[in-house]
Amino acid sequence: MTNSTAIKIAISGAAGNIGYALLPLLANGYVFQNQPVELRLLEIPHAIKSLTGTRMELLDCAFPCLTNVMCTTDPLKAFEDANVIVLVGGFPRKKGMARKDLIQANTKIFTSMGQAMNEVASPNAKVLVVANPANTNCLAALTEASCIPSKNFCALTTLDHQRAKFQIANRLGVRANRVKNVTIWGNHSETQYPDALTGGYYISESGEKSSLKTLLANDLEWAMNDFVNIVQNRGKSVIEVRGNSSAMSAAMATADCLKTWLVAGTKEGETVSMAVYNDKGYYGVQPGIVFSFPCECKHGEWFVKEDLQLSEFAQEKLKVTESELFEERDAVQELVGTSRKRSVSIVSASSSMTTSESEVSLSTAAESSAQFLRSSI
Ligand code: LMR
Repeated sequence: MTNSTAIKIAISGAAGNIGYALLPLLANGYVFQNQPVELRLLEIPHAIKSLTGTRMELLDCAFPCLTNVMCTTDPLKAFEDANVIVLVGGFPRKKGMARKDLIQANTKIFTSMGQAMNEVASPNAKVLVVANPANTNCLAALTEASCIPSKNFCALTTLDHQRAKFQIANRLGVRANRVKNVTIWGNHSETQYPDALTGGYYISESGEKSSLKTLLANDLEWAMNDFVNIVQNRGKSVIEVRGNSSAMSAAMATADCLKTWLVAGTKEGETVSMAVYNDKGYYGVQPGIVFSFPCECKHGEWFVKEDLQLSEFAQEKLKVTESELFEERDAVQELVGTSRKRSVSIVSASSSMTTSESEVSLSTAAESSAQFLRSSI
């Protein structure tokens, strides 16, 4: 059942809750649009039995695009020549914790993931980091995996983006897919700035656009305070109510991020939020951290949309989240980039993370992005 032209996707922490919800979306054509896919599922030894059961279920779904499913505890096997690497494995946040409380434990995992990628992954591999603290884990991995350009990495803020879209749509009494270009700035943490007012718009069924700033003009108190707080704290609220961190919404956001970034691209005039390595000082943010910006995607690449005008209020919010990201970076500095060893071990996760109404359709551009992805190994 192997197929040499299949897109090879490695997923760490595949036996966890996010993995369980994500795998069908990778195997059923939702992300890669009926291109053949091969899944390499990575777990810690403790979770391998359960992972083997998940593999059985994947096979039992008889997905036409799924060419092979491998279960392994060895990141070198999972990452070898992988086209796409999704890093979900890490200790999940529990009630009462902040995401950054996971830094020490998860940085170790992400440096070892980076080292393994550096050994065996294709320099063209695309890497999406989901486990928390996602931005700083992504920084750790890309620092270690110096053979892969930092442009090939991103950390997930699609989840926050979808949360923001829903909150705005709900407030305006419209469908979520009519709300465009909200932006999550900064960290996937409580300091992020969910921003509806810079560039956000509503598009009617007939294609008429109205800026969210105008639509919310009589509701600015909500848009600048309550809305921001709700989105910033949504992950925590889910943990409090559900008893576990988000899984279905996190998986859906992961799938949507991959689909937009690597396959479908963004539509003309639309942006998505992606946490990417800031090497250019976009929007006055100091380089050297992974920061979420409004991005456009085309042919498997992201581009920060650079021409938005930020209000003073927004600039202040960006400073807060920027400074938290530098604090996180300083906290992991000793653990990252110092090891020359290639000792690779993994620790897993069963963490989790919205339903997104993705309306991205397969276009010719999407076909060629997927081709590009396969041919670039
Ligand atoms: C989320 O935002 O739901 C995830 O990052 C899980 C968490 O710890 O909040």
